[in-house]
Amino acid sequence: MLRGGVSQRSKVKDQRLENHSEAKPVPILASCQESISQAAAAIASGGIGAIPTETVYGLGADAVNPVAVARIYEAKGRPGDNPLILHIASREDFFRLADNPPSYAHALIDAFWPGPLTLVTKKKPGLQPWLGGHPNRKADTIGIRMPSHPMALTVIKASGCFIAAPSANKAGTPSPTRADHVAADFGFGEIDFILDGGAVPGGLESTVVDVTGEVPVILRPGAISPEMAAKVTGLEPLLLSETTLAPRAPGMKYRHYAPKAPMMLLVGDERDIAAYIAAQCASVQAEKIGILVTSQTRAMLDTIPVNNSAAVLTLGDKTSPETIARNLYACLRQFDILNVDIIYAEGPSQDGLGLAIMDRMKKAAEGRVIHVSN
Ligand code: TXA
Ligand code: MG
Repeated sequence: MLRGGVSQRSKVKDQRLENHSEAKPVPILASCQESISQAAAAIASGGIGAIPTETVYGLGADAVNPVAVARIYEAKGRPGDNPLILHIASREDFFRLADNPPSYAHALIDAFWPGPLTLVTKKKPGLQPWLGGHPNRKADTIGIRMPSHPMALTVIKASGCFIAAPSANKAGTPSPTRADHVAADFGFGEIDFILDGGAVPGGLESTVVDVTGEVPVILRPGAISPEMAAKVTGLEPLLLSETTLAPRAPGMKYRHYAPKAPMMLLVGDERDIAAYIAAQCASVQAEKIGILVTSQTRAMLDTIPVNNSAAVLTLGDKTSPETIARNLYACLRQFDILNVDIIYAEGPSQDGLGLAIMDRMKKAAEGRVIHVSN
């Protein structure tokens, strides 16, 4: 059953890789003032390309250019019902786009912009009916973010555009945290350039908060935690997963962040997780196993005989969720390169940033969570 699933999924991804192995590589612009100006000019004249932000790389286009925006959907293989975030470089721009935002939205902006927070708001009357979504559709709301990455802010300002940008990966794959991740997903022609800002500091996509109602609703957890939002707004935000509301972030219903091989998410203490992994390695000798663990569990594994052909990657110190967030997607992509058949991954705690990490890991594992204890 599992093996059948593996080969089917592998086929889909391998086809994607084959398509691009032949393609000319996308030009990578080095991190310098001239490259930043080049990227901004390309976007202003209707091109699309990857730019670094503090969360993940985004695939940017002039948000009011329907041809460029349609190209983003095409290049990513993104369904048309999944809207895009508009990236802005000043708070004033938010008030040009948002219709009558509640006072708690102002509090969130004051506390967290520029930064990893997207606000979904009602649109000002008079804006293009499709703005924020696919040009063939009508969008009543709009997702807006002011990033803090200096290169992103400079590109937005220099282009003079609102930049529509989803994460710069093919739909369904882990978001890119380095320029070479973008280059692995796209060929030249699909996108026009990659602006290389090195490894991003954050590593997980922004917190998406719907501010159209009486209280904030967190549509996607991120580095701005529910506790942080509650503190500055004085309101207890709802988590989409805990509400009975119809899915409000269309993107959340699609398969996401998934490596090629099926992943099992292990929850428990490090000793039990290490013992479980060792037992799996002993019983499934024939497969190439990927193991993704914290440094603490890695140290435990060193004391247990583990299948030699297993590929062990380390997320980072258990007590540093920031490090784990920064490393997660690069590790998932590395398992694709190593061509593992199955992945056992340790899930960290759910506190603070851990909520967002676990959200992404559960999606990467397509819900396969195993609680291990002895
Ligand atoms: O950190 C980030 O947010 C990165 C960087 C590049 O800014 N962007 C990103 O974009 O992750 P994307 O498109 O991969 O994810 C945006 C999420 C999707 O789940 C989408 O459905 C949701 O935000 N979203 C965007 N606009 C929305 C809207 N108007 N209403 C509801 N959800 C929206
Ligand atoms: Mg994405």
